[in-house]
Amino acid sequence: MRLVSRFNPLDVRKDFPFFEKGLVYLDTAATAQKPKAVLESMTECYVEHNANVHRGVYALAQEATDLYEGARKRVAKFINASSGEIVFVRNATEAINLVAQSWGRANISKGDVILVTVMEHHSNIVPWQMLAKSAGASLEFVPVSKDGLLDMDAARLSLRKKPKLFAFTHVSNVLGAVNPAKELIALAHREGVPVLLDASQSVPHVRLDVGELGVDFLVFSGHKLYGPHIGVLYAKRSLLEAMEPVLGGGDMIKEVALSHSTWNDAPWKFEAGTPNVSGAVGLAAAMDYLDALGFDAIASHEKDIMDYALEGLDSLGCVAIYGPRDRVGVISFNFGDMHAHDVSSVLDESGVCVRSGHHCAQPLMGELKIPACARMSFGVYTTRSDIDRAMEALRKAKVVFGL
Ligand SMILES: Cc1ncc(COP(=O)(O)O)c(C=O)c1O
Repeated sequence: MRLVSRFNPLDVRKDFPFFEKGLVYLDTAATAQKPKAVLESMTECYVEHNANVHRGVYALAQEATDLYEGARKRVAKFINASSGEIVFVRNATEAINLVAQSWGRANISKGDVILVTVMEHHSNIVPWQMLAKSAGASLEFVPVSKDGLLDMDAARLSLRKKPKLFAFTHVSNVLGAVNPAKELIALAHREGVPVLLDASQSVPHVRLDVGELGVDFLVFSGHKLYGPHIGVLYAKRSLLEAMEPVLGGGDMIKEVALSHSTWNDAPWKFEAGTPNVSGAVGLAAAMDYLDALGFDAIASHEKDIMDYALEGLDSLGCVAIYGPRDRVGVISFNFGDMHAHDVSSVLDESGVCVRSGHHCAQPLMGELKIPACARMSFGVYTTRSDIDRAMEALRKAKVVFGL
């Protein structure tokens, strides 16, 4: 397993077998490609240590359990939590649903308000709508200002009304705007409001520290962090201990009688059935990989790519870009009067992958008064020549479509 010690995007790229395809991949915000270190760790897990966890007493089963629980410790260290505060789930969406269905059902009742923002991904809106419907509660939305940032005055006002929960994204998957998480969490806590932070789009780009943030719940998906399809729910220990499980079955129990059952301790009471062992192991390897690159180096490389791409798009002269200049990870845009899907298809013909559509953020599309947009997104392996290829394809399209 090779770890890169010095950041050079061309070296980094060699760690990702995907790029042998020759594609320009500018859709890392949807899902990231995987380095060899992650793929190898998962293969090794199946070839060398494959047994079910928390069950067998034979040596191989113990090895598998140690790997899985070791991965939990690694994830905890990555965000400065303790391992008892890490629940493995399928993805960020499932993590939010778990909080809504468990903590939400116990703490949200008729007349209560759940505060979210207009810039949320559907996965941080719909679970709260479902909860609100069953509890008789309602949702309030913090708006976005004209410059594509969260309206902080409106957030302050809404928090003063003491909603039962504030759930917001750290980085918008459309605008790339970075919300001041620490400040917002402190404001919420001053009013006694617990906070769920959706870190899906921030965790691959910035170092997260749940202790420093003081956040109550934090969620993210491993597949956006160069890892496999597994998700993470972090919750403060006292919250997890008080919460009821949502799924029942094997491994989440202490005892099962014909009449009733008792629950395992947190975090295992939330992990019913055989867990995604190789996923957890692969996620831990992705975290080792990113730590070896170093988040300072990652941030400065990604800023260079971001600035270069913004300049390139500006130079085309017919591009509307959504969100602030100072941003992370993504550039959402429209190209002349072309539909976003056509922009994506034109780029695809040149081997450039960009996403188009509403990006699971229909309320934000409404706010921006657009039905859809195209989106380029970047990662540790994105190079300036990737951006050059995208710009070349757009330049050609500009001529062909007379924009
Ligand atoms: C901000 C944000 N939150 C949540 C999600 C949901 O992630 P997943 O589909 O992995 O659950 C995404 C995915 O794009 C996202 O961008």
